[in-house]
Formats: sequence, structure tokens, C-alpha cells
Amino acid sequence: MAANTEFLFTDSDFAKVRTLIHRRAGIALGEQKRQMVYSRLSRRLRELRLPEFSAYLEMLEATQDGDEWQSFINSLTTNLTSFFREAHHFPVLAEHVRKTQQPVTVWCSAASTGEEPYSIAITLMEALGSRASSSKVIATDIDTAVLAKAEAGVFTAEQVARLSPDRLRRFFNKGTGANAGKVRVRPEVAAMVKFSRLNLLDPSWAVKEPVDAIFCRNVMIYFDKPTQKKVLDRFAPLLKPGGLLFAGHSENASLVNQTFKPLGHTVYELARSAAKAVPA
Ligand SMILES: C[S@@+](CC[C@H](N)C(=O)[O-])C[C@H]1O[C@@H](n2cnc3c(N)ncnc32)[C@H](O)[C@@H]1O
Repeated sequence: MAANTEFLFTDSDFAKVRTLIHRRAGIALGEQKRQMVYSRLSRRLRELRLPEFSAYLEMLEATQDGDEWQSFINSLTTNLTSFFREAHHFPVLAEHVRKTQQPVTVWCSAASTGEEPYSIAITLMEALGSRASSSKVIATDIDTAVLAKAEAGVFTAEQVARLSPDRLRRFFNKGTGANAGKVRVRPEVAAMVKFSRLNLLDPSWAVKEPVDAIFCRNVMIYFDKPTQKKVLDRFAPLLKPGGLLFAGHSENASLVNQTFKPLGHTVYELARSAAKAVPA
């Protein structure tokens, strides 16, 4: 029974939400997420002045691609992130890109509010110096609200508290006016990062060029095993020979398959058999 009183939220409403978000975003919500779903979607009901969840779900399903679908997805994603999260990955990336003479491209496939793609851009600048300006970070996420925040590039003092004073000085400007007390990534860092919406479940991805590295961290945990496998198989042909895949700390089990070979610390490269299968 629904323990919540403001809006009627039945077992069948919850079951429907779980089916819809799984179908749209691949996100497998467990039984224990009921309260989270209630509180996050209640905001939508309040905004739309709807009396109960069934009315909201009916409205949502009445269109295939109405704007509310994006708000529904944005409400149900979990966007926790931070600068240089899982810090051991960044020296590995730096060493990898130092070996190449070509402009570097890194795809950050669950970019959230921007801390991860900007950490990648900073790593490229530190590793490549002036050569970094011809390199780029493709930063994508399914959630348009976090992408807007990411693109603004403005962060609170708390969000950058663990960055070294040297990185803060080199890569951020102090905010002024409405952004007093905050910082903004410097234009040369921002210029390297291109944000766009991309659903990892979409049948076709806008990222088509081969990349030097893919960051896919802390998003696979929300997908079930078949979805994880499909996404991983689609990453393989997008990596340049010797390219690296960076996964989140709890995602290693899903990566142990024939496509990727572990290099340690949840960094992977294409297994020999998969590398051979990549079209020329
Ligand atoms: C917990 S955050 C991880 C952010 C960052 N990668 C990190 O490790 O700090 C997960 C992100 O995955 C995104 N996401 C969830 N499902 C997705 C999908 N189907 N396609 C693309 N991004 C998705 C969410 O919107 C969210 O921003």
C-alpha cells in the first residue's frame, strides 16, 4: 500500500514507472526505490497540478515523445559525481595520451554535471600542454538538466574543495556578481568540451569517430546485464587501436567478457579477438 499521502501512488503505478524508465533509459529500479520515485516524481505532479500518479502516467503515455518524457527521465536519473572521482584513472589517461602525436579525443559517456569531462580536459591540458587545444572531450548524458549545468561550468566552493590550489588557479576563474563565491572553468578548458544529449540505449549514437578513450563510469550499475553487454559491444568499434575504456569501481564484473581485457584498476583495452573484429 502507498505510505504517501499527498498523491495516490499504487503498486501498479510504481510497477509502471519501473517499466517505463527501464524501457526508455535502461535504468533498472529496484523494489526499494519506491520512496525515491515517489518523492522525485511528486515534483512533476505538483508542477503539472495533477491529482495522482495514475493521471501523470496516463498523460506521459499519451505521447510517444512529448517534453514530459525528458522531465520524467531527468527526475529519475542519479547524478552523483565529483572532480577527479576515482582519481587513479587520470594518471593512466595522461600516460596514454602522451604516447600519441595525433589530436586526442575522449568520450565521456555519462558526463552528469560536468565534473568528470572537465577533469578529463584538465588532465589532457596537463599531459599535452599546448597540444591539448587540438584535442577534445565529447561529453554526453541522457539527462538534459545536468547537461545544462555542466555547460554553464559554474561550481560551488564545496564542489572544488578537493582540487589542489594549483589546479584551481590554472583552470578556474573566480565567479563575480551572481556567481560570487563560486568558480567557473576557464574558457580554454570549456572550449575543449562539447556537451550533447545521448542515450546509451539509442539504436544509433552521434559519436561515430574512433576515440582514444571512453569513460563509462558509474552508469552501467543502473543497467541490467543484457543492457550492459549491448553497450559494451557497441563501444568496441569506437575505440582506436590500443584505446582505453575506463569503468566505475563497482562495474568490473560486467566488463569481464570476451570484448575487453582488464589492465587493472578498472581500466580495459580491447581483447585481441574483439580488436580483430573492428572494421578497418
Ligand atoms: C552517477 S552519475 C555518474 C557520473 C560520472 N560518470 C561519474 O562517475 O562521476 C550517472 C549518470 O548516468 C546518466 N545516465 C543514466 N542512464 C543513461 C543512459 N541511458 N544514457 C546516458 N546516460 C545515462 C545519468 O543521467 C547520470 O548523469
